[in-house]
Amino acid sequence: MADMTLFSRAAALALLLAAATLPARAETGAAPANDPTKNGEILFATSCGWCHSDGGREAGKGPKLAGTTRDDAFIINRIKNGKPGAMPAWGKVFDDAQIENILHYIRSLPSK
Ligand code: HEC
Repeated sequence: MADMTLFSRAAALALLLAAATLPARAETGAAPANDPTKNGEILFATSCGWCHSDGGREAGKGPKLAGTTRDDAFIINRIKNGKPGAMPAWGKVFDDAQIENILHYIRSLPSK
């Protein structure tokens, strides 16, 4: 019984340590984490690119995003909530900082 408690404590401590070190590792692991545009580009390529073609530079299943005249609030809202039947919602997939990074990336695209 005493052994069991000790084991549980050790397990709990191990979990705590893992939880504490994981986010830190994620930040240092991804080299471009400090570059919002680069970070957004990576997120975009993996999650958005199959509909917004050529990294958002061309229309695909979704519209071309390069040079969009939409304001930030519209874009952030569309990413978070998607559009039923057209685009999936990402509000539960990405946190606000990630969505900001994606916005940075979209704004970095050439406008023609
Ligand atoms: C399954 C395909 C699909 C995926 C995946 C997708 N989109 Fe879309 N997206 C669409 C479609 C279709 C529309 C047009 C919706 C409409 O009719 O207004 C759209 C619209 C948008 C708009 C608004 C464009 C405008 O001017 O009206 C933005 C911004 C956008 N998507 C960004 C993203 C981002 C960022 C991601 C990835 C996190 C993403 N989309 C993933 C299909 C997709």
